[in-house]
Amino acid sequence: MTQKREYTGDYPDKTLYIPGPTEVREDVVEAMCEPMFGHRMDQMTDLYTTIVEDTKTFLDTDNDVIILTASGTEFMESAILNLVDEDVLVTTCGSFSERQANVAERLGKNVDTLEYEWGQAVKPEDVRQRLEESEKTYDVVTCVMNESSTGVRNPVEAIGDVVADFPDTLFVVDAVSALGGDYVDIDEHDIDVIFTSVQKAFAMPPGLAVCVVSDDAYEREVESDSASWYGGFQRSLDYYDRKGQTHSTPAIPVMLAYRKQMKHMLEEGHRARDQRHEEMADYTRKWAREHFDLYPEAGYESQTVSCIQNTRDIDVAATIEEVSEKYDMVFSNGYGSTLGEKTFRIGHMGEHDVESIEALTDAIEDVAGL
Ligand SMILES: Cc1ncc(COP(=O)(O)O)c(C=O)c1O
Repeated sequence: MTQKREYTGDYPDKTLYIPGPTEVREDVVEAMCEPMFGHRMDQMTDLYTTIVEDTKTFLDTDNDVIILTASGTEFMESAILNLVDEDVLVTTCGSFSERQANVAERLGKNVDTLEYEWGQAVKPEDVRQRLEESEKTYDVVTCVMNESSTGVRNPVEAIGDVVADFPDTLFVVDAVSALGGDYVDIDEHDIDVIFTSVQKAFAMPPGLAVCVVSDDAYEREVESDSASWYGGFQRSLDYYDRKGQTHSTPAIPVMLAYRKQMKHMLEEGHRARDQRHEEMADYTRKWAREHFDLYPEAGYESQTVSCIQNTRDIDVAATIEEVSEKYDMVFSNGYGSTLGEKTFRIGHMGEHDVESIEALTDAIEDVAGL
């Protein structure tokens, strides 16, 4: 049984350096405070068509965009339901890619995995070998772009190029914690489905998930008789075509925030945003190498989440606590019980810049006596 706990609101503001949710601009938070309107009113059509079309422009894709009231995990599930009839190949290298395998197993699919140790990256040549040597024709190959648990950035572009050589196999990418902070050319690399949650590098309040869907993926789902209802690509896209709205009642305030933030993102531009994230990642890696070490395999370090190896054996939990108390900044321990104290993670995504990341690393240096 759970116990009732009152939320008093009596908490000091903290600057977020966790791998999401991340900092949200003030005017984006304020955008949520509009009088409510109905989800079948013209205001809704204006709002939803604006955020969908702006997202296509930002991501520079000709594929379709769905913005759904859900967290990213919804698309881990619905992409499998919509596209996999029998066999799926899930590449795993950390907690979130393992979750993808677990989700597919629970949906009753035949799941084969291409497994890597935590901290290692998925290699395109291994994917090719598996696809060539397998007697099965996989309906889908999945890959996580940014394994937030280990700070590994997988080469989804090169893996997409490999999967494109197998015309009956679609490529699904979990880009939660990367999209918007790490440029990926979706169309060029034949990524059929790529999804994210808005509370990560999009720097929006949580509550929505975004999915970009190719024509091939849409058509595959049309032939399926076991597609997801709520997360069905066809239902969302057909409704958008007919009415410019969502198939069921969305989180309208978060969509208002989305509209505001996406205008900021368009103004900055995808390439410039990528560049800013690269600078933050470069700075953080340099700092980490100077004082500790990096956990991910060299050459595959994430551009949005640095996972730092605790080579000095500092008390990670106590350091996080003290940095929070003294500086009102929050960063993350390692993922789960395995990496909890062995690593710690800094989320450098969304609206942060090198200066704000430096403020955090200064605080860690002070508290940990580096
Ligand atoms: C790579 C990755 N995939 C999936 C998820 C799940 O996202 P959500 O919590 O929005 O469902 C996360 C969350 O951190 C993630 O980092």
